[in-house]
Amino acid sequence: MISAKLIDLLKQAKHLVILTGAGVSAESGIPTFRDALTGLWENYDASQLACEEGFLADPALVWGWYEWRRHRVLNAQPNPAHTTIAKLAKRIPKLTLITQNVDDLHERAGSGDVLHLHGSLNHPRCIKCGAPYQHLEATPVGCESRIDPPNCSVCNGLVRPGVVWFGERLPAEQWDLSKEACKTCELMMIVGTSGMVWPAAELPYLAERLDVPIIQINPTDTSFNIIAKFNLCGKAGEILPKLYEEAFSDL
Ligand code: OAD
Repeated sequence: MISAKLIDLLKQAKHLVILTGAGVSAESGIPTFRDALTGLWENYDASQLACEEGFLADPALVWGWYEWRRHRVLNAQPNPAHTTIAKLAKRIPKLTLITQNVDDLHERAGSGDVLHLHGSLNHPRCIKCGAPYQHLEATPVGCESRIDPPNCSVCNGLVRPGVVWFGERLPAEQWDLSKEACKTCELMMIVGTSGMVWPAAELPYLAERLDVPIIQINPTDTSFNIIAKFNLCGKAGEILPKLYEEAFSDL
């Protein structure tokens, strides 16, 4: 049951911030990180696969794993959560979409100007000079495939995945824009994130401190339950279309 107060807030909001996490892509068949049994960090070792030391210790293991993930995303389609967020942007005067996801499913659903806090599977770069690398293979690979990373055409350094690893800074511009949006919005929605990774998890607190109402959409409890004025328990691909329908179907 979606409260009338929430529908009203959504209809009146002049600036909505949406922060998404892996849960928004779950219904597209992309695994989350921390869900029991299916989460990537339940089945793979983050200390090997999600930090620079791990990459330098075994580049072929790490490059092969990210290529597997990239191909999974290539073969996935945006789900109703992604498409509803893109539709909301047409109804609300200003919508800032911030994602922790490294897939491009928001963009493929029609969202523009997505702030990617954790980088992208599609933007690898040289580990030494930072030059972008563009010639990614089209051939699908398995999760255990060992593939040597390519070498940079500028300095011959190793090419690394374009995602933010543990211990690394978030892209400064995207982070600053995200903070600013959370401090100036009228309403914030948190969709499909466990809130366990900082500094991204700080964003809802910035908004809440300024009395911005927070809406959370997630099938399970998270640390954001305490600050969320509205906790909508369930799948994003089911709840978001219902919200949209109730708020905007009569317009
Ligand atoms: P997590 O795997 O930590 O959390 C996913 C959240 O999505 C959980 O709270 C689930 O309950 C929820 N969820 C699952 N299915 C859902 C559905 N259908 N609809 C809505 N919610 C659903 O993923 P993140 O919070 O995104 O970092 O993880 C944050 C970061 O940790 C990731 O960006 C990644 C990882 O290490 C990098 O890749 C740099």
